[in-house]
Amino acid sequence: MLHDQVTEAADYIRARSAQKPRVAVVLGTGLGAFVERLTDSTRLSYEGIPHFPSATVDTHAGELVLGMLGDVPVLALSGRFHYYEGYSLQEVTFPVRVAKALGVDTLVVSNAAGGLNPQFKAGDLMLISDHINFIGDNPLIGPNDDALGPRFPDMCEPYSEDLLALTEEKALAMGIKTQRGVYLACSGPCLETRAEYRMMRHIGADAVGMSTVPEVIVAVHAGLRVLGFSIITDECFPDALEPVNIEKIIATANGAEPILSSLVDSVLRALPPVTGTSA
Ligand code: HPA
Repeated sequence: MLHDQVTEAADYIRARSAQKPRVAVVLGTGLGAFVERLTDSTRLSYEGIPHFPSATVDTHAGELVLGMLGDVPVLALSGRFHYYEGYSLQEVTFPVRVAKALGVDTLVVSNAAGGLNPQFKAGDLMLISDHINFIGDNPLIGPNDDALGPRFPDMCEPYSEDLLALTEEKALAMGIKTQRGVYLACSGPCLETRAEYRMMRHIGADAVGMSTVPEVIVAVHAGLRVLGFSIITDECFPDALEPVNIEKIIATANGAEPILSSLVDSVLRALPPVTGTSA
């Protein structure tokens, strides 16, 4: 049972750190160095945590880090699992379940994404306002465990409007330019065709990538408040498309890392308590 596996993983972590995390941060491509900001940290390799899948992509470290950001206890997930690596979406989202079991009420997610909105440029930072699940699968398929969340979770505001507003306020004060937009997730691993980019733009997407949406679906199911970021690493404009260059994508993501890290830092230090029923 998923519930028992989550409990076992959470017990393992609790036995190794007395910290009670309030926020979980999934460190996608380009946010890896965020963990360096945490103090009094306990680092646990994914391999040792019961039922955790182990990371395969070498850009991700595969470590769970508990630490303090000022007086905010944070759980950082350094290294994530992708559907294209062959994991099920239940496996991909397992760390989010464990974060919830440890008492987290807010999830911050980040990724590297291709820009579809012609106003975006490589290097831009996009706050995710909504998403389109184009993966063709859903982590909630199968019997529903009512102890974890409802059968039919509402998705009218998966990304907290309050946190979007707070982040924009902080970004403005720090002189950081941000975009807002809809993130579309596909399975990967191949990049998309021109015809696919054209269609994605038509159906309302501003950015495209291969992650994040499964974690957000599970976070909403678990009643977590979500804040999401995409670093726009390349321009996916169908009429001016260039062959993808993965090294360049990673370099662009790493270039934006200090800005995104400092923005997440300032938002988390100012995080208001969760209010209302929908978390
Ligand atoms: N598609 C296109 N460009 C990208 C992606 C993607 O999934 N991720 C980062 N840049």
